[in-house]
Amino acid sequence: MYEAFFEMTNTPFAKNIPVTSLYIPSFFDEAQGRLLYGVDHNQFIVVTGDPGCGKSTLIRALKSTLSGEDYILLYLADSKLTPRWFYSGLLNQLGLQPRFYRGDAKNQLQRELEIIRGVQHKKVICVLDEAHLLDRDTLEEFRFMLNYKYDSESPMGLILVGQTELWDQKLRYQNYAAIRQRIDMNIVLRHLDRAETGRYIDSHLTYADGKRDIFTDRAIDEVFKSTNGIPRMINRVCEKTLMYASQQQKRLVDEHMVQYVTEHEMLKGGGV
Ligand SMILES: Nc1ncnc2c1ncn2[C@@H]1O[C@H](COP(=O)(O)OP(=O)(O)OP(=O)(O)O)[C@@H](O)[C@H]1O
Ligand SMILES: [Mg+2]
Repeated sequence: MYEAFFEMTNTPFAKNIPVTSLYIPSFFDEAQGRLLYGVDHNQFIVVTGDPGCGKSTLIRALKSTLSGEDYILLYLADSKLTPRWFYSGLLNQLGLQPRFYRGDAKNQLQRELEIIRGVQHKKVICVLDEAHLLDRDTLEEFRFMLNYKYDSESPMGLILVGQTELWDQKLRYQNYAAIRQRIDMNIVLRHLDRAETGRYIDSHLTYADGKRDIFTDRAIDEVFKSTNGIPRMINRVCEKTLMYASQQQKRLVDEHMVQYVTEHEMLKGGGV
């Protein structure tokens, strides 16, 4: 396909880009540092941002920096997660057969975590992704994980990850106060600016290991304008534009090609 046309060895804008090839702008680097500090201090952290801004990628990057000898990271991302499945999901990740009743499964999990901390001397980090889609009961269950020694100590790092509405439509309201009051750190991932969008594209082309000067400056302006600097949308627009360019046998992408693609090839309503 277009990879051969542009003499690339990797697909540049694919989802499975290795963490070592991620584009790390300074705010993302700072978010990584704060996250690491937070999990090391067993904090309760909330990560929010618009769809496609890199929240799950931030967690993927975090996981890759933690050594398996010292940390266990449990990760759940299920929009239909109920309190019962919350416990079984975590127990399954620890390789255990969950008890049937929720209360039993909860005790079972607490005992296991106690062993991991006390006997194996590992830090536990529990991440709940897509949290904006979860109901209050499940979020409450998550914060119960912090109740340890009569709520006087934090036994693990907890990270709630969700789209901006996690704050706007849930956490800021009174009936979420018990959760909100326990939050130690809030990390907000913003969109990329124009300069970062250019570097983001360049970093993906470097990863692809082909020709790098494919997009003109004006083409990058156009990508930025049509995607608002959202990484997922940049990936989609760039990928479709590269396909279009290769069909047209053009090795240089200009702003007209990006415009053509955003007007004709992107699904309407998808943010582009
Ligand atoms: N720093 C980055 N470097 C390289 N690629 C990135 C980066 N951030 C995000 N991406 C890419 O953008 C896409 C969207 O990122 P991600 O899935 O992390 O967004 P999200 O904020 O979790 O979105 P959602 O709210 O829909 O879950 C992914 O394909 C990811 O590979
Ligand atoms: Mg995500």
